[in-house]
Formats: sequence, structure tokens, C-alpha cells
Amino acid sequence: MDKDSIFKKNMEDSYGRIAKKLRISVTDRCNMQCVYCMPYNNTNWLEQNTLLSYEQIVHLVNIFAKFGIEKIKITGGEPTVRPKIEELVKSLSNIDGIKSISMTTNGLLLKDKVKKLKDSGLNSITISLDTFNQKRFKAITGIEGGLTKVLDSIDAAKTAGLQVKINVVIMRGWNEDEIVHFAQFSRETNTIVKFIEFMPLDGTGIWTNNLVFSKREMIQLINTKVKKLVPLFNDNSDPARLYSFEDGIGIVGFIPSITEPFCQYCDRIRITSDGKFYTCLFEKKIYDLKVLLQEGKSDAEIGEYILENIKKKPEGIISLTRLNLLKPTLNQMHTIGG
Ligand code: 5AD
Ligand code: SF4
Repeated sequence: MDKDSIFKKNMEDSYGRIAKKLRISVTDRCNMQCVYCMPYNNTNWLEQNTLLSYEQIVHLVNIFAKFGIEKIKITGGEPTVRPKIEELVKSLSNIDGIKSISMTTNGLLLKDKVKKLKDSGLNSITISLDTFNQKRFKAITGIEGGLTKVLDSIDAAKTAGLQVKINVVIMRGWNEDEIVHFAQFSRETNTIVKFIEFMPLDGTGIWTNNLVFSKREMIQLINTKVKKLVPLFNDNSDPARLYSFEDGIGIVGFIPSITEPFCQYCDRIRITSDGKFYTCLFEKKIYDLKVLLQEGKSDAEIGEYILENIKKKPEGIISLTRLNLLKPTLNQMHTIGG
């Protein structure tokens, strides 16, 4: 058998799901401290010398692309804090089989980098924003005066010609009173706004079921206070359930990870900044790909290892909700990447 014949296989797991999208966390560090994500006063960062180099990331993506990965999302921590991130975007965009590259960012440093990112081949960007209120922005992210910077970055990303989406994590008692404002923002600025149910991936340990504001509640609020929502065609592998309004103006999405988990359609896998392979956000077993690179294993050997372990991808949060096993900090979003 020729040694590359392994790459004729798909990355299919034991539930029949085939991975098509790869999320790459390029750093666990962040210049914000969102309450739903970062541990308070974190000092427990990965050592810089344990991070995958850009060369190693590109090597791994070449392998994943041979298995049918088509879309890449660069995340963190905060990806724009890693120096010369546009160089990684450029190299990834040249890999055979990779059809699109997107990035998830908090937008704080984006304004001055966005043109370079776009010119390097970035196709779309998701910017996190949870409030339009300065004081609340500080309470949620820990950053004074950050709101203006993020709003400027949103404008700059559009000016650069990128497709822009906004991620809003809704937490009951924190920001559900701004859902209407966000829906109006989508309509007025022609931006897709995605509302995310709070997941127990917080570093702070604050997650409880009571803080989850459900998709159903969000829809009810928008229907009564903004305009009637109309469901759009949904690609099931997109976690966001997309809606427009009855007048066709604006698009909003809901990511109901807790109340309507969509694990059966999951086509995502992840690598962390230190080269760990996560088949699921809620995975307990993790697989070290960096070690294999360091040992000089061949692409076929690394490929075998990936295929063997994708088979063990767990069912996902859907099984945890079924068994009532959700609790804070099941894993930490800032290391695995959103
Ligand atoms: N629950 C839901 N979404 C989260 N994010 C970070 N932590 C959580 C959490 N505990 C989101 C961020 C960002 C994306 C990468 O993940 O808002 O948009
Ligand atoms: Fe940083 Fe994003 Fe986590 Fe906020 S959600 S602390 S911006 S990594």
C-alpha cells in the first residue's frame, strides 16, 4: 500500500460526522479578561517556547487539508496579540484544499491590522462585542475605553472589504437587555449578529444554568420589541441558526449550545497553540501533535494518529445536557479557542 493512501480517507468519527473545519488557537493569551472566558488575574500562561511555530501550524494544516479540511478559523486567546499573524494567514491561504480562512477576535487591536490581514488572504472576521455601554464593557471585559476601539475596528474591517460578523455572549442579568439594541444594530449596519448561549467553558467558574438566556427567550424578545423574525435556510453544520426579519432587513443568528445542542451536525475539530488536538470543546482526552512533529514522524504517521483519534470524538455537549452533567469550567475556552 502506498504510504499516502491513508489520505484518501475522511476524518469520520464513530457517529458518522465528518470533520471539514479546523479551528486553530494561536495563543492562550488575551488582552481582555471576559468574565465568561478568562480566569481572574490569570498568570498561568503557556510558555512561549511551547507554542507551535507558524511553520509547524502550516505543516499540520497541510496534513489536515489532505483529509478534507476546507475551512480554517484562527482563534485564541486573542489571535491579534501573536506577532505577524498575517504571515500565518498568508501561508495557510496557499495550502491546497483550503477554501476559506476566518478569524475570531475581540477587536481591540484589529483596526490597524485588518488591512494587512485582508491582503494576506483572510476572507471573513468575527468580532466579539457583548455590550454598547462603556461601563458595562469594562465590567465584562476588564478594559476601560475598549468599546470605541472595537466599534472602530468593526468599521475598519468593513472598509477593508471583509465579511464581518459579531458574536455576542448573552448572560442573564448581564446583558440580555441589549438584545434589542444588537438586533437593531444588525438591521441598521447590515452586519450579521450572532447571539451565543453562555457555555460552561468559563475560566472564572461563574457558569450556572440560571445565567443561560435561551434562544427561545431571545427570539421572543426580538419578535415583540423589534420585528418578527423569519428563519433562513440553515446549513446544519453552522452552529448559528440564522434568521432575517419580515421586511428582509438584517440577519441575526442564535447559537443555542445549551438549550438546543447541535452536536449531531458538528464538523469541527481544533488544535491548541501548544499543538494539542481536541476533537470536541468538551473533550477530556487530548492528543499531542507537537510531540509527533518534534519526533520527526512522517505525515502518514501523524495522519494515522489523527484518524485513530477522530474515531473517539465524543458525542458532545448534547450528552452532557442529557445526563445533567453541565458545570462551570468543563474546559477553558481561552486555551481551546472558540
Ligand atoms: N460561552 C459562550 N461563548 C463563549 N466565548 C468565550 N467563552 C464563552 C462561553 N463561556 C465566545 C467569545 C468569542 C468566541 C471565541 O467564543 O465571545 O466570540
Ligand atoms: Fe479574550 Fe475572547 Fe476570552 Fe474575551 S472571550 S477573554 S476576548 S479570548
